[in-house]
Amino acid sequence: MASGRRHRSALARVVAQFAADVGPAYLDGRYLPLSEACVSPLDRGFLFGDAVYEVIPVYAGMAFRLEAHLRRLGRSLAQTRIPLPCSDSEWCRIVSGLIERAGGGDLTVYLQVTRGVAPRDHAFPDTTPTVFAMAGPMSQPSEKELRDGVAAVTRPDIRWRRCDIKANSLIGNVLLRQEAIENGAVEAILIREGFAVEGAATNLFIVSNGVIVTPPKGVDLLPGITRDVVLELLRRNELDHEERRIPEAELHTAGEVWITSSTKEVLAVTTLDGAPVGDGRPGSVWHTVRSLLREARGRHAASR
Ligand code: PDD
Repeated sequence: MASGRRHRSALARVVAQFAADVGPAYLDGRYLPLSEACVSPLDRGFLFGDAVYEVIPVYAGMAFRLEAHLRRLGRSLAQTRIPLPCSDSEWCRIVSGLIERAGGGDLTVYLQVTRGVAPRDHAFPDTTPTVFAMAGPMSQPSEKELRDGVAAVTRPDIRWRRCDIKANSLIGNVLLRQEAIENGAVEAILIREGFAVEGAATNLFIVSNGVIVTPPKGVDLLPGITRDVVLELLRRNELDHEERRIPEAELHTAGEVWITSSTKEVLAVTTLDGAPVGDGRPGSVWHTVRSLLREARGRHAASR
């Protein structure tokens, strides 16, 4: 039985790897299998992490909140002064071309724009941006993560000062997420100047004295699309909430802690730095918000 399960999960990994390798990609004007997409080692995305990106969830073949993702991409490009390589309608065509080639269903579409290929020099080159995109299987929270919640650890925020830009230079985030994993957690919640700001790749919500709180937008955190969707649902359903800074001490006494992202949706953190959050189970407010988010996704899928 156990060996059957192990075999199936090994097989699932091979299938996922295969799908990831041969899944559809788009590079500088043409679609091709991901395994055939090649970029020069002189690409500034490779040499400097001089690039911006988006991760867009696709439900039932429809990109969720595509306009908001494209708006954020446009802002990241403007802030990093990478020339805008495509109009919104071109982006929409690229995304729908990938979804079609991937066979629809639930997917993740990844878009990346680098400053282009040029001899290595920190100064901006005179070149055109590289546009890369791919569609692959969606990674969703597991049944166990939804049922039991997940563990997180707090860590000092070692990232740069413009965390509002969705930049590919993610070494700080990568080190922090890995530290969380090596400590048996799924996420690191980052502390800057005594305040909890967000996760290594997620936004943060807490429930404190019955009020849902999330830190305000600013240079300390990524303006997450899922964060915006959750806030929209809280407003629409008249659930008490505030956007304000969260002192580290309040994070540790919160009744509920959640993390949100396009791939993690809304996940309850039930263990923080080894201690239970609330009663150590996903809380009642999380259950409500999780259902509202599911319904919003359902309405989106049904609107096609
Ligand atoms: N990460 N904060 C950070 C630092 C992130 O990297 C992300 C998303 C979020 C949540 O944003 P959104 O709700 O728009 O996904 C917050 C993506 C999923 C990633 O890098 O894979």
